[in-house]
Amino acid sequence: MTALTDTTGPANPAEPVAFPQDRTCPYHPPTGYAPLRDGRALSRVTLFDGREVWAVTTHATARALLADPRLSSDRRHPDFPVPTERFAGIRDRRVALLGVDDPEHQRQRRVMIPSFTVRRATGMRPWIQRTVDGLLEAMIAEGPPAELVSAFALPVPSMVICRLLGVPYADHEYFEEQSRRLLRGPTAADTQDARDRLESYLGELVDDKAKQTEPGDGILDDLVHHQLREGTVGRGELVRLAVILLVAGHETTANMISLGTYTLLRHPARLAELRADPALLPAAVEELMRMLSIADGLLRVALEDMEIAGTTIRAGEGVLFPTSVINRDPAQYEEPDSLDFHRPARHHVAFGFGIHQCLGQNLARAELEIALGTLLTRLPGLRLAVPAEDVRFKPGDTIQGMLELPVTW
Ligand code: HEM
Repeated sequence: MTALTDTTGPANPAEPVAFPQDRTCPYHPPTGYAPLRDGRALSRVTLFDGREVWAVTTHATARALLADPRLSSDRRHPDFPVPTERFAGIRDRRVALLGVDDPEHQRQRRVMIPSFTVRRATGMRPWIQRTVDGLLEAMIAEGPPAELVSAFALPVPSMVICRLLGVPYADHEYFEEQSRRLLRGPTAADTQDARDRLESYLGELVDDKAKQTEPGDGILDDLVHHQLREGTVGRGELVRLAVILLVAGHETTANMISLGTYTLLRHPARLAELRADPALLPAAVEELMRMLSIADGLLRVALEDMEIAGTTIRAGEGVLFPTSVINRDPAQYEEPDSLDFHRPARHHVAFGFGIHQCLGQNLARAELEIALGTLLTRLPGLRLAVPAEDVRFKPGDTIQGMLELPVTW
């Protein structure tokens, strides 16, 4: 079991801590967030530009507020919090689903729901299994050692999302590069340029599909041949939906595969337990989702004054949800810093909560179960190829994950 012992941070817990911060260990919240873990429901944090916003840090309050329509996800709101300089570049842009409120959000979500049922995710399992098997065979043929992010963790979700959407995998290097720049490009201009490129790439694809008489079987084909033709969705909106799916659908899952693998390798007893009882896999995936909380900083702005836990959040104030802190609330999870496949982890907020709760969660769970399960079965001797401290992971201002993961077996 791993416990957080380092509690660096401001001496006075009332003093706002900086957000986001880099993690010290890739599977624990940054040690500097310790003051956010003192049991209060709301704390103040400071963003890079000096602005102070509220951080919601207990599980019960987070779930209540993530479902509260008085908090908006509209990035174009003048007071929407900007977590990093890079994010400023796209704040005036329309972001489908994630960046819209009801009723527009509900309309977009209705367009997408039929494509994201549990049944569709279950139906994709055999194909995901074949994809995972093929990638592992290629990796085994070339190694050991291997760099797990490029050989496995990224291609699995990238191939899956291509298949699901109907995007040619041959273009994967291009859109993976643009997604990477969009999520962690160094400057605002870089982020903006990446979004423009993704929009024009997917716009051309949508136009090509509209010309085809025999539609393919991807979600984009469905949307183009039904919703676009029937006028339920316009071309611009369809392209924005495609961008969000492409970006949200592969980078997140790739990071869960790489960081999930690293975390298991750092917890040999849990790894042995999982190998001995593969039926634990779904629970292990849920617990890893909780513990790793890779989307660590969901953002909202208050549309009106709200009384929460004896505190007033004023209209126009920023509200953020550090999922790594919320998912370790001791009032909800016993010994929250330890990895335990037997706890009920399911109510975590690692996929969000409320109207924006992750649309791809069924698919993500299927991918994680198959990818992690098969990796552990096929490579019983899997281990890090470098000292654990030398493995490079992502900075705090982005979706958490490994930059690279050298392994051997
Ligand atoms: C393990 C992998 C994943 C994680 C950790 C994750 C996490 C999240 C989170 C936290 C949100 C809510 C954001 C907010 O409330 O501001 C979200 C929303 C979303 N996710 Fe995921 N996600 C994952 C995989 C996927 C996949 C595979 C897809 C698509 C195929 C996807 C598509 C979406 C979409 C479209 C939304 C926006 C939903 C809405 O606003 O209605 N995600 N995801």
